[in-house]
Amino acid sequence: YRLLVVNGPNINMLGVREPKIYGRKTYADLVRLCRTAAREAGFAECRCFQSNHEGDLVDVIQAAYGEFDGIVINPAAYTHTSVALLDALKSVALPTIEVHISKVDEREDFRQVSYVRAACFETIVGMGLDGYRKAIKDMAACLHEHKG
Ligand code: DQA
Repeated sequence: YRLLVVNGPNINMLGVREPKIYGRKTYADLVRLCRTAAREAGFAECRCFQSNHEGDLVDVIQAAYGEFDGIVINPAAYTHTSVALLDALKSVALPTIEVHISKVDEREDFRQVSYVRAACFETIVGMGLDGYRKAIKDMAACLHEHKG
């Protein structure tokens, strides 16, 4: 199986941005973690993509159609604003897991809504970067269960 990991705005600032909330690990560390977790879960391919631009995130989700079997996505701030990302995920209709590094459920009111959640079969919050490892494992289990 082929896995696409998508990260939204400011995730490239991991390690620098608000370390009390997001930790000291960098985006490069996150990419390494995802690649290792994907290999261990049996994925043949793991592509990691990060952008600060909503339209670029829509483009990469659309391009996943026919090219990837599952998507793990942290839309970051666009989680709370983007109907376009929701529609893109619904358009390609690939199994998708939403990940948030921080405990969004314990933070500001404006973080309590997720537009993308309706297109995801699972949401993981507040596990730090380990949330991606869990998402990748759970995606592998889902694909093996439904596609064999
Ligand atoms: C985040 C939570 C969002 O509210 C925030 O805008 C982010 C990161 C998280 O991973 O905890 O940029 O998605």
